[in-house]
Amino acid sequence: MINKKSLKNSNKSGAGLKFPAGFLWGAATSAYQVEGEIENNDWAEAGRQGRVPKTGLASDHYHRYEDDFQMAKYLHHNAHRLSLEWSRIEPQAGKFSEETLEHYHQVLNFLKDNGFATFVTLHHFTNPLWFSSRGGWANPQASQYFGNYVAKVTQSLGHLVDYWVTVNEPCLYAGLSYGRGQWPPFHRSYLKAWRVYKLLLAAHNRAYEVIHQYFPKALVGFAQNIAYNHGGLAAKLSDYLEIDFPYRQTNNDFLGLNHYFHRKYRLGFRMEREGAQTDWKIFPIYPRAIYEVLRKLKKYNLPIYITENGLPDARDLKRESYIKSYLSEVHHAIRDGAQVRGYFHWSLLDNFEWAEGYKYRFGLIAVDFKTQKRTIRESAYAYSHICQDNGLPPLNLPLSKGEKERGL
Ligand code: BGC
Repeated sequence: MINKKSLKNSNKSGAGLKFPAGFLWGAATSAYQVEGEIENNDWAEAGRQGRVPKTGLASDHYHRYEDDFQMAKYLHHNAHRLSLEWSRIEPQAGKFSEETLEHYHQVLNFLKDNGFATFVTLHHFTNPLWFSSRGGWANPQASQYFGNYVAKVTQSLGHLVDYWVTVNEPCLYAGLSYGRGQWPPFHRSYLKAWRVYKLLLAAHNRAYEVIHQYFPKALVGFAQNIAYNHGGLAAKLSDYLEIDFPYRQTNNDFLGLNHYFHRKYRLGFRMEREGAQTDWKIFPIYPRAIYEVLRKLKKYNLPIYITENGLPDARDLKRESYIKSYLSEVHHAIRDGAQVRGYFHWSLLDNFEWAEGYKYRFGLIAVDFKTQKRTIRESAYAYSHICQDNGLPPLNLPLSKGEKERGL
């Protein structure tokens, strides 16, 4: 139920909307999408085979992280989410690269020295080749292999990590890599996808244990891609797969929400996508969706971090209003009792968008992939004011669809 009182506090009054003290503001990245020159994982191998695009230098973030984080700091971010590349850290089973660990040590140190809270993802879609050749996430021993890697990382880097994100989007990864077979290892079996999903959740639990062995007070969660599903049984089934099932199976200190989608069903069929278009039609703009998802997550009574939210918008025409309208819905959800403690825009930089290669631009900062020149987009400045003020300015935007629907 939407709480009427909170809606009175709408952002059209002229006062702006303040977020709770200590709210974390930042952006997210993942290693394979930005670092460049990663050759030893399953995506690189699939790239060499011509089954997916190659990354090449990506955003060359491996060498340019200092400049990139300086820009994030200049834009008033106080937190950053990144991922570690498992294949760089453990290039062969059980053999760890001290050089790579030293690199990530420097990266995390740089963030801490510059006042950022650190969110570290341990698995963001890519696997070392030795792991995939042993059956990857379909191997029942997967969580043991993962646990060994997590133990090493925790011992080496744990003192620099504020929040751990064990696995990124287990449901989406299992569905695309093992169900639809669009991503490595290109399997097409929903039965297998279901097994992989469960093994990924088991791996999360294993990582949760391992991290807490070394750091009993560590804060550990995973990032789940949750859509706003509405309309009958099909929506209930999607909610079960995305929310109820995984959270019932896992231990969590917080919930990490990656939010992009809404799915409307009618008589079991998916309806046309509603909402304004972005550069990629599967990502329409529908701000009310994030409110509804946060409302559903309230019952877990855990802090929530929005670990990803963003849009492909190369010309930066819609990003500013997207950010403002989504954040205004997040604010409503907070007022209605959702314990949201932070927001990470996807993404800090333009980057490698998986099977789509470099076609779509999600960055607050544009990257010219020929020259690696960075340009801060206008919307990044608008977001920067929000980060600095810990709140949204009074809205002079057209009403979002969610707001219209709710009669604001
Ligand atoms: C993934 C990112 C991806 C983004 C946009 C998320 O599901 O975690 O890696 O770039 O969506 O497609």
